[in-house]
Amino acid sequence: MAELLYLKEAEQVVTVAGASDKPKVGEDLSEIGVIERGSVIVEGEKIAFAGTDADARHYLQKRSGKVKTIEATGKILTPGLVDPHTHLVFAGSREQELTMRLKGKSYMSILQAGGGILSTTKSTRAATADQLAHESRLRLDRFLQHGVTTVEAKSGYGLATDAELKQLRVAQQLNNEHPVDVVSTFMGAHAIPPEWKQDPDGFVQLVAEEMIPQVAAENLAEFCDVFCEEGVFTVAQSQYILEEGKKHGLKPKIHADELVSFGGAELAAKVGAVSADHLLKASPTGIEQMAEAGVIAVLLPGTAFFLMTEPANARAMIEAGVPVALSTDRNPGSSPTESLPFIMNLACLTMKMTPEEVLAASTINAAHAIGRAKDIGSIEAGKNADLVLFDAPNYQTLQYNYAVNRVDTVMKAGKIVVE
Ligand code: NIG
Ligand code: FE
Repeated sequence: MAELLYLKEAEQVVTVAGASDKPKVGEDLSEIGVIERGSVIVEGEKIAFAGTDADARHYLQKRSGKVKTIEATGKILTPGLVDPHTHLVFAGSREQELTMRLKGKSYMSILQAGGGILSTTKSTRAATADQLAHESRLRLDRFLQHGVTTVEAKSGYGLATDAELKQLRVAQQLNNEHPVDVVSTFMGAHAIPPEWKQDPDGFVQLVAEEMIPQVAAENLAEFCDVFCEEGVFTVAQSQYILEEGKKHGLKPKIHADELVSFGGAELAAKVGAVSADHLLKASPTGIEQMAEAGVIAVLLPGTAFFLMTEPANARAMIEAGVPVALSTDRNPGSSPTESLPFIMNLACLTMKMTPEEVLAASTINAAHAIGRAKDIGSIEAGKNADLVLFDAPNYQTLQYNYAVNRVDTVMKAGKIVVE
């Protein structure tokens, strides 16, 4: 019989329970199921019990076999954090662009001059799969140190069939090797590569007719994403790619309305996207349509912070009934960080989300945004034992003591991976 692991008497267990079928919206986003003096019992890879410590002791009396106790006094326990939007697999870095932007160049003008995403495309194309795996593994290690136990990872720095497949195979390899689970998204439509600059529709054709079928045939992704933005992919091109993806079983996601109001939120509702991400410039109509269609808004306040722009209007989205999730957008250009806890701080301080909303948005709603809410995102009997102990006396401290990593212990599928 497997040994039981008894996480004993945390000051608070933040369960975020009861929303595995549907993401949390509106006022329910603040209902995070806090158990004071709570304990959690883990059996194998799963959570066996979550409740008050008094009830945990009763539960243990009825069980035989070995029990290993981890004292959680003075700490809080939350579900493993979930990051539903990263560009994890790439080579190289772009520090010089920060200096360029500080001197007044815009993110888009750097891309249009062949830098930005295209500069990472150059280094990613040139890298071997081993080099890509090595660089990306270090990023996953840092995610884990910050309490993140599952990430989504997009391709989109290959921008040619072989290079896109190379990125996705590395993501799959890392999913198998690393404690952090990696959920893959195909994003061949991330930018127009230089060799297709004169024929963008030709590139769109290549993405739809060659890349998508191969990605699906090799089972390399669950989602398909498009950078729908002025000067990148039009609404019509984006719709075409997402519809073709759907035909091959890839669920749609969209980089929408990041830099200008472009109809991305509306398109997300129209194609039934699982999520629309960024949304800094989403229109009120787009927000309404997302609420009606149940599209999750994945908000990335770190990207707004690093690009020195206004973040998305989270309050309007929550009030309109849009399910909101949070993510780092980890990438080398617009958000080079693995600290989801700092993103949570920014959500609070720059978008006025409450500490409760922030926690729900980074756990259960984020799990919904990558189709994993049945298994992760909350502390409930039967779910995967992905858990974080924070060295903090209450959950509000995580937002109050901003930019400080309070992670104490991380457990992935019942195993301690950070301590
Ligand atoms: O989500 N906006 C487009 N894509 C990424 C940035 C990619 C990059 O700059 O390398 C984003 O911000
Ligand atoms: Fe992104």
